[in-house]
Amino acid sequence: MYKKIIRPMLFKQDPEKVHDRLTRLGRFASFTKLSRLVRGMFVYKNEKLENEVLGIKFDNPVGLAAGFDKNAVLTDFMPDIGFGFVEVGSVTAHPCEGNPKPRLHRLVKDKGIIVYYGLCNEGADKINKRLEGKKFRIPVGVSVAKTNDKNIKGDASVEDYFSGFMKMKDIGDYITINISCPNSGDGCSFENDKLLEALLKKIEKVRKKEIIFMKISPDLDKKKLDKIIELAGKYKINGFVISNLSKKRNGLTKDPKLKFPGGVSGKHVAKKANSMIEYVYKKTKGKFVIIGVGGVFNGQDAYDKIKKGASLIQLITGMIYGGPGVIKKINKELVELLEKDGYSNIKEAIGGEYKT
Ligand SMILES: Cc1cc2nc3c(=O)[nH]c(=O)nc-3n(C[C@H](O)[C@H](O)[C@H](O)COP(=O)(O)O)c2cc1C
Repeated sequence: MYKKIIRPMLFKQDPEKVHDRLTRLGRFASFTKLSRLVRGMFVYKNEKLENEVLGIKFDNPVGLAAGFDKNAVLTDFMPDIGFGFVEVGSVTAHPCEGNPKPRLHRLVKDKGIIVYYGLCNEGADKINKRLEGKKFRIPVGVSVAKTNDKNIKGDASVEDYFSGFMKMKDIGDYITINISCPNSGDGCSFENDKLLEALLKKIEKVRKKEIIFMKISPDLDKKKLDKIIELAGKYKINGFVISNLSKKRNGLTKDPKLKFPGGVSGKHVAKKANSMIEYVYKKTKGKFVIIGVGGVFNGQDAYDKIKKGASLIQLITGMIYGGPGVIKKINKELVELLEKDGYSNIKEAIGGEYKT
């Protein structure tokens, strides 16, 4: 029904307008009895999918990736369509309008999206106020990033990042430091190891028990990736979110929309993200928890990431192309794949590709 009727209607409209309308609908549904109906249709439970990661209990491993719920207005709705966890944001210290529109474009042939939002969000103060003291039904992560303002650079960018982190660190179950936004005015400045280390040092001084992930780009070269892994180990980062959008366009099908700037999501990212998951998992012998992201459209896509070393997976594009039913479908298919391979629980399958 989604693919045959709803998607063709939605795909005729401007993607950002569709996103905003669906966000309003989701908010409305969560305030009304509609949520119970939605839950009955979309939630799938199976104890084979339950796992505890870093002390956090997950009913299933499928999460909403950062960027869909930038202002954290859908934390009540997302459990109703079956997600096992959500990551809100990316949130920045200061509110940000983002880049000029249009800034979302569908690449239908490649099952992807060009994203050029530029970290638009209401800012850490307002989002903190919205979430402070709130009880969530599923685990919630908060993605933080540096404010997208090219005039904030050098030491000031470390201060800005740190201030966003401080404002959000007590919300939810974990924090992700997004060092890989391809669309901010200053590029990926926190892939610069000096700035990154300055930030991690500041965080180390105030850190209590916060669980911290780092989100990285699929386009990193080995040298940069190795340095980031080294810093993550030194500053006791718990894990990596692999990966963000890709800036690279090679291999994409010809499309007039390729004239627009932005990072690309979906199928285009899957292979790169998967080889990065494999690299990090093998190099560090599974020391870091990995959240695998990029081009998950079905159970097999999710399972591939898990077998390569991801404990959890996230998606956005799979839901845009497959509709909200895709989360249940992925979870059901995951159970079938686990059973086929003789696993009694998902945790046995993590990194399963390398076990004999
Ligand atoms: C519309 C959109 C907005 C995004 N915004 C963010 C963001 O603010 N922060 C972030 O870390 N990643 C952001 N991303 C990247 C996603 O979290 C994810 O890493 C990427 O899209 C690959 O997953 P997918 O193929 O399932 O979409 C965004 C992606 C999309 C499609």
